[in-house]
Amino acid sequence: MAFPPSFLEELAVRNPIEEVVGQYVNLRRSGSNLFGLCPFHGEKTASFSVNPEKGIYYCFGCHKGGSVINFQMEIEGLSYPDAVRALAKRVGMEVPEDEQYQSRYRQQERLWALSKEAARFFNSQLYGPAGAEGLAYAQKRGMPKSTLTRFGIGFAPNSWSALCDAMLEKGYTEEELKQSGLASVSQKTGKIYDRFRNRLMFPIIDVRGNVIGFGGRVMDDSTPKYLNSPETIIFNKRKNLFALNLAKKSKLGYMILVEGYMDAVALHQYGFDCAVASLGTSLTEEHAALLSRYTEQVMLIYDGDEAGQNATKRAIPMLEKAGLQVKVLQMRDAKDPDEFLKKFGADRFRLLLEESSNRVEYQLRAIQKKYDLREDDQRIRFIDEAAEFISTLGNAVQREIYGSRVAEAAGITPESMQIEVKKAFKRRMAREKKKQERIDLSPASNLQPKDRHIRYDNIKSAMAEESLIAILLREPALLDCCGALSAQSFSSPMLGRVFEQLMANHAQGIPVSLTGLTDFSPEEMSHIALLLQRHDGPVSEQALSDCIRTISTEHQSQSAKSPQNNDDLLSLQKQLLARKGLKT
Ligand code: GTP
Ligand code: MN
Repeated sequence: MAFPPSFLEELAVRNPIEEVVGQYVNLRRSGSNLFGLCPFHGEKTASFSVNPEKGIYYCFGCHKGGSVINFQMEIEGLSYPDAVRALAKRVGMEVPEDEQYQSRYRQQERLWALSKEAARFFNSQLYGPAGAEGLAYAQKRGMPKSTLTRFGIGFAPNSWSALCDAMLEKGYTEEELKQSGLASVSQKTGKIYDRFRNRLMFPIIDVRGNVIGFGGRVMDDSTPKYLNSPETIIFNKRKNLFALNLAKKSKLGYMILVEGYMDAVALHQYGFDCAVASLGTSLTEEHAALLSRYTEQVMLIYDGDEAGQNATKRAIPMLEKAGLQVKVLQMRDAKDPDEFLKKFGADRFRLLLEESSNRVEYQLRAIQKKYDLREDDQRIRFIDEAAEFISTLGNAVQREIYGSRVAEAAGITPESMQIEVKKAFKRRMAREKKKQERIDLSPASNLQPKDRHIRYDNIKSAMAEESLIAILLREPALLDCCGALSAQSFSSPMLGRVFEQLMANHAQGIPVSLTGLTDFSPEEMSHIALLLQRHDGPVSEQALSDCIRTISTEHQSQSAKSPQNNDDLLSLQKQLLARKGLKT
């Protein structure tokens, strides 16, 4: 019986080979390998090696070797499935043996095959009569054929059925085309049609080499500039990165993380074959964890505009939390790496890379740039702001080192700087406490929307609903976790409508933001803006699931009074808990 690759991958991650082997063999580190006496043949000198990074073992004496699963088979004399079961049991994972899981997996395999077939189709179109415009555009963007081939870039013809026809011909069904997100369904006729038309197509390929989705770019200034595949059973934007399938093989020893497909493609083309891009969503914890499997160091390059800067600030702690060392490259003289490379070439870019600094230095430099340190009053403001920032660093050594550096720049003693940092820390704590108190103690009347028409019936639930909306607007990718939630679950019909529209936009690949909320009165919009101010706590799955819990409990106690179905929320809650369980 075949186990799903995703399951096996998880199994391997959670059973580090050095740990499993370590149960049987005394291992000593030597370079990137561990060595010990081979358990499979008698020997006096250690020729049995384990490479944790690659997840393999190998004996230079008896030439046995393989993965953690092979080791388990060999050492315990188990069959393959039994070894898998033993490893799963070791870490408390459930083995996907039931029919349902298996059939879901078979469905996934069909969609992988269909997506690969579609990528081939798009790529071949590029060189046919229907793709002349696409090829010309690719050339205009400076992509030679080698690049188009390496990335499998293609062209979706300007037709409502070219792809569907070709795939139906190959034996795929309308249902599968819908499930893959390659076809949409006409509201009027109920017929399917090609989702991607007249676009340059970037296949998104996971680390196992499966085509899981597409990003399609228009060739002019029309919108949306990029259309992405919707979330499907094989495509999850939160968990995949564009070009990681190539970058994971890079020998450069670090990864470059950029925002745009085009940026990643250009970087590879100019020799930086370690570039990956997020898929039009902001970076998630899953992305960070994924990267940390392939590298220890990430170079972050987001656009120089304000949005890019904000994204950088949010990405840094996330990457660091995943154990990655983060460097930030400040884009100069061009809006993104693609433009920079095409203007100035690879050597100038390499200089930029070398100049880039780690994140604390980056932030401090940004702060320092705002002030003229020759002026006393500006120097004082610089010390204040720098102390405020340094007080947020969790590590005392860091606070001391960077404190001294600021002290030097500002011409004060390191000791006075430490005092400033302590003061800033206390101020910040007091501020945060007050803010929370204000929300906790606010009389309900302060929390009520100013407009009478949208007054809240259930303040407690409404606060959780507001907080949920705030989180989703800041981290739209979390909408993927809200599939089972519906407008009816909200105690405030207005907030329910907000949620509904965010979901709809997200599903259509429309960027999720305040501007995407089109059906709201000015009063409603200002209340939405207010709630965003009010709720600016941490954005995390934990916070999201707390909101959902409150909404769910409140909804439940309401529906106890009126008999309404609450199963959806309960199952959502379970789903979120299960996701957490998987990650820890
Ligand atoms: P070019 O303009 O072709 O150079 O593209 P780019 O890759 O530089 O894209 P840009 O910096 O404008 O946007 C960064 C990324 O955000 C893109 O690669 C997409 O993943 C995503 N993105 C941009 N515009 C849209 C859009 O209209 N819809 C969606 N869903 N995603 C978008
Ligand atoms: Mn660009």
